[in-house]
Amino acid sequence: MNASDVKATLSFSDGSPSMDLPIYKGSIGPDVIDIRKLYGQTGKFTYDPGFLSTASCQSAITYIDGDKGELLYRGYPIEQLATGCDFLDTCYLLLYGELPNEQQQRDFHKLVNNHTMVNEQMQFFLRGFRRDAHPMAVMTGLVGGLSAFYHDSTDINNPKHREIAAIRLIAKMPTLVAMAYKYSIGQPYIYPKNDLSYAGNFMRMMFATPCEEYVPNDVLVRAMDRIFILHADHEQNASTSTVRLCGSSGTNPFAAIAAGVACLWGPAHGGANEACLNMLEEIQQMGGVEKIGDFIKQVKDKTSSVKLMGFGHRVYKNYDPRAKLMRETCHEVLSALGLENDPLFKLAMALEKIALEDEYFVSRKLYPNVDFYSGIVQRAIGIPVSLFTAIFALARTVGWIAQLNEMIADPEYKIGRPRQLFVGAERRDVPPLSAR
Ligand code: CMC
Repeated sequence: MNASDVKATLSFSDGSPSMDLPIYKGSIGPDVIDIRKLYGQTGKFTYDPGFLSTASCQSAITYIDGDKGELLYRGYPIEQLATGCDFLDTCYLLLYGELPNEQQQRDFHKLVNNHTMVNEQMQFFLRGFRRDAHPMAVMTGLVGGLSAFYHDSTDINNPKHREIAAIRLIAKMPTLVAMAYKYSIGQPYIYPKNDLSYAGNFMRMMFATPCEEYVPNDVLVRAMDRIFILHADHEQNASTSTVRLCGSSGTNPFAAIAAGVACLWGPAHGGANEACLNMLEEIQQMGGVEKIGDFIKQVKDKTSSVKLMGFGHRVYKNYDPRAKLMRETCHEVLSALGLENDPLFKLAMALEKIALEDEYFVSRKLYPNVDFYSGIVQRAIGIPVSLFTAIFALARTVGWIAQLNEMIADPEYKIGRPRQLFVGAERRDVPPLSAR
């Protein structure tokens, strides 16, 4: 880490000795104040629930400038990656730090393809679930279940093991998501076909049946690939931090990723795409565009707990760059399918326009995030709403594993162990039952 010449000084109004704190500079972004010695020297902790001002690690993978609305993977803008690379190039970049050359690209595709099948026993594991189980419940179980199948890639202190676990996870996630879908609709599983692209193979496993081959539509396959690229990593978000914290105990890498899947499920995080589409459908049922005003009134009413799903972000205080790309993809997909007049898309555009002009959203810097449009694209492709978050998990797996592996290789890494401000009862004695 690059130490700055400037130091921060922490002083106390009660006359306790002040303390100098080192400051480090990143390559871009805010400097950080190193408080690691604070407790040792002052006996005090810092208090920052929700990590509003706390960097939990150093990382060289992804950078977001929330005010500019900029997202960089290893320095490359998301717009350039989404238009000039495919998802597997992006995976390579996130894992190894550089884009692959032609040879590396060929080798990497071959390596990932070698691992697309899952152990045949996985389907019996899947059978234990109810057919109507939520796909994220199933995925949490299946990804955790991988840890019971792949014993030769579970020593996280061994870099080779870490790499094999990364490749296995990237390769098997599409197979598992498609299996979870096929199981839910009672169709036979479709095995991976390794001469297809990563996105094309996933769509075939989702939509082919043993009696009818899937005919790929290039626009839809490209759209799916773009969804994967846009969701591949996003800095130290809730699920990534969960994976890091879980992995910091030295646990099995598949188990750490399962923890990320569980965290992603929530509607404030990956579950927002599902919640957003449900919201659009509800407004449509209420009367569509004409009822937007009533809906916005509810959103602004703090007692209603209604939120405009797909709007707002902890880091972006500008238009989410992924939302712009997803909006473009939405146009392409709907026009390729002859759905230009799709009522939900029209509703989403009207809602976006009104929200972008409304003082409530403007003053709070609430802009559309990626989930505002990704649900419409997925629904048009034929993905059921309940599967949206599982597809997000599929795409985010590379980010999780890249971040986990970065943490383990970091000499400064320690098991994560936050402190607390205790506000409960002080020590007291247990009274006998008759006196309680
Ligand atoms: N609708 C209405 N009000 C909102 C919204 C929203 N979507 N988002 C934030 N606000 C209000 C919030 O009530 C608060 O108002 P006030 O200052 O009057 O109390 C203000 O804006 C600041 O919000 P916050 O809750 O302090 O912001 P946060 O950083 O804690 O929350 C968020 C970020 C993403 C959880 C939140 O914006 C939200 O719940 N959005 C809807 C869910 C969503 O779309 N999530 C997907 C995020 S993108 C995918 C991903 O990366 O996981």
